[in-house]
Amino acid sequence: MTRLRTAILISGRGSNMESLIAAARAPDFPAEIALVLSNRPDAPGLDKAKAAGIAVAAVDHKIYAGREEFERSLQAMLDIHRIDFICLAGFMRLFTPWFINQWRGRMLNIHPALLPSYRGLHTHERALADGVKIHGCTVHFVVPEMDEGPIVAQAAVRVLDGDTPQTLGARVLAQEHVIYPLALRLVASGAVRVEGNRVLGALGRSDAALVAPTPDR
Ligand code: GRF
Repeated sequence: MTRLRTAILISGRGSNMESLIAAARAPDFPAEIALVLSNRPDAPGLDKAKAAGIAVAAVDHKIYAGREEFERSLQAMLDIHRIDFICLAGFMRLFTPWFINQWRGRMLNIHPALLPSYRGLHTHERALADGVKIHGCTVHFVVPEMDEGPIVAQAAVRVLDGDTPQTLGARVLAQEHVIYPLALRLVASGAVRVEGNRVLGALGRSDAALVAPTPDR
């Protein structure tokens, strides 16, 4: 089995990164984590990746004159490591259309809300302020428009009366750790196809409607 050489791009603690690294340890997982790359040399996730035996690199956005120069360096690093696929996991820089088009159909992102609701930042605060009863997270392909792009997987979380942004965020994060490996598995194995804005072909199970598609394992 050829495994898709995948880079995880992070800016911070890297808990989603850890869930992807753990999932990719399974011998039948269709992607291998070949690189963890951060725009912040001090990102705590880099040490965790190193401890897990993964190649790490930092491309510090602050030393570049502009976004294009920064992205060309990122791209060079991805080329050196022969990367086929990118998972953004808490990567806090916006890309130019040039970079996104290079990776169109080969780059996923995880967002802590049920898109298309709550694009952008502070999603848990905004969900609580709006009084919604169901919140969640989304894995989607990256397109030039922020927090848009075909949705691969979502998980819903109930909002409880006593929730704070922290408690709600913690339950959403636990679901992020479920759906990101699931989505990468589906995409890397070729189990799904993109038609327009829809990702089709994954089997859903009607008995567990809160996570879709439903993980088999
Ligand atoms: C997650 O909530 C993710 O959805 C968002 O940024 C956060 C990253 O957390 N894009 P971590 O670094 O994976 O722990």
